[in-house]
Amino acid sequence: MKKLIFIAFLYFAIVLFYSGSCFAASSGRVLFKKYYCIDCHELGYGGGAVGPDLSRIGKTKSLSWIKAQILHPGSHFILGTKKKINGKIYLVRMPGFKTISSGDLNKLAEYIKTFSQKSIKLNYKKVPAGLKFFREDNCIACHRIDGMGRNVGPDLSHIGRNKSLSWIETQIINPKVHFSYGMPATINGHTYLVIMPALKNIPAAQLKAIAKYLESLK
Ligand code: HEC
Ligand code: HEC
Repeated sequence: MKKLIFIAFLYFAIVLFYSGSCFAASSGRVLFKKYYCIDCHELGYGGGAVGPDLSRIGKTKSLSWIKAQILHPGSHFILGTKKKINGKIYLVRMPGFKTISSGDLNKLAEYIKTFSQKSIKLNYKKVPAGLKFFREDNCIACHRIDGMGRNVGPDLSHIGRNKSLSWIETQIINPKVHFSYGMPATINGHTYLVIMPALKNIPAAQLKAIAKYLESLK
């Protein structure tokens, strides 16, 4: 009987340990979206390219450096100038998150500090080509997929359920066919101002990849 109780205790201890560590990891991930970091930064599972890829940041920067960057980017970079980071030129324009709570700041910085190249390499492969273009062509500045991106336009997490491949292609190259520019449009119970720009000159392969990816979101 004693043995049984011990095994049960061990089991609960293991479950508690794992759920605890998963929760800690996911909360940093949630904050990375909540504060729009993901709109400008890649962290191995999607994100924008306005700022540097942070997939290796844990290797090169200290926790306190990361916290300072979140609160006051001006302490490291001069706003409006151009800066070369990891071989790429960026326009320095990261906003300071001065009103972030100290709890959120700590969690977010600790989460980012855990990132090293090794853990990310695997994740890169998981990003479909269509999602890459979705970010590069800035669709993510207005649309959300699975909680990533902004709410200027409709959430596209399930767009493939009721829209065909050709409908989506038309929406990308000529939204006027579906919506009257400058007018309000109600989509899935939300009203949006119709402002989606037409991407008339998008390369055919890129258009196909994005449309195919969106159509696959059921
Ligand atoms: C509007 C786009 C934008 C947003 C939103 C944004 N950043 Fe940045 N970030 C940048 C840019 C551009 C740089 C390059 C330096 C600068 O602008 O200060 C940068 C630089 C950084 C760096 C330094 C990278 C390096 O390799 O030196 C870190 C760390 C960072 N950002 C973290 C964050 C975190 C965490 C958030 C969310 C709280 C965030 N950023 C939100 C655009 C953004
Ligand atoms: C400036 C904001 C903005 C950008 C950038 C943008 N969209 Fe949109 N999108 C909207 C808005 C607003 C709507 C609502 C209808 C409209 O404006 O045409 C919309 C509608 C859509 C719809 C139809 C949604 C539905 O449920 O009917 C799709 C699909 C779509 N966008 C895909 C894209 C893709 C793909 C890109 C990138 C190539 C993109 N959008 C870029 C704002 C934007």
